[in-house]
Amino acid sequence: MNNLWIYKQLIGCMFVFNRILTDKKQYLDLLLLADEQEDMIDRYLERGDMWALDHDGVKAVCVVCNEGDGILEIKNLAVAPTSQRKGYGKAMIGFIIKWYDGYVRLRVGTGDSPLTIPFYKSCGFKEAGRIPGFFTDNYDHPIIEGGVLLKDMVILERLI
Ligand SMILES: CC(C)(COP(=O)(O)OP(=O)(O)OC[C@H]1O[C@@H](n2cnc3c(N)ncnc32)[C@H](O)[C@@H]1OP(=O)(O)O)[C@@H](O)C(=O)NCCC(=O)NCCS
Repeated sequence: MNNLWIYKQLIGCMFVFNRILTDKKQYLDLLLLADEQEDMIDRYLERGDMWALDHDGVKAVCVVCNEGDGILEIKNLAVAPTSQRKGYGKAMIGFIIKWYDGYVRLRVGTGDSPLTIPFYKSCGFKEAGRIPGFFTDNYDHPIIEGGVLLKDMVILERLI
């Protein structure tokens, strides 16, 4: 691991963000929380930058890809189940925005889920489009989140 960066939040918590360069699948259990099908993760894991948030152990991981034209896309963001709703997800977004200063837009594609859309909106993202049937067409099993069957991919964006 290198590119260690320490991000001191305004509230005073110290989180360490480690860039994961090798053996990215050591965090497969976390990655699968955000993207249930391993062969879909394989589509972006190697070309993406992977970050792990450490705060007395790894609490969250994120994979971001450079999509060109100043656009950075979050392909996977997952917080360990027992650590959710403690601000780690938002801290990861805050870190990404600071680290990738100079890019123009941060994008994420996610399911139309009552668990994730409010999270991204609380981080300043706005809906920018949809890919109809993305989840039903590309995954080998139905994906149900928060009691909702995911069909379309919702594209959300914010400025960096
Ligand atoms: C979605 C996820 C990344 C959010 O991370 P988190 O650390 O739990 O979220 P935070 O504590 O930073 O939440 C920040 C704000 O987002 C909103 N939010 C987060 N989770 C929410 C939920 N389940 N329902 C409604 N609002 C939510 C709230 O406004 C929250 O602020 P509050 O707790 O003060 O009310 C995390 O729950 C997760 O890993 N889920 C499973 C994987 C996944 O679905 N990833 C996203 C797809 S890429």
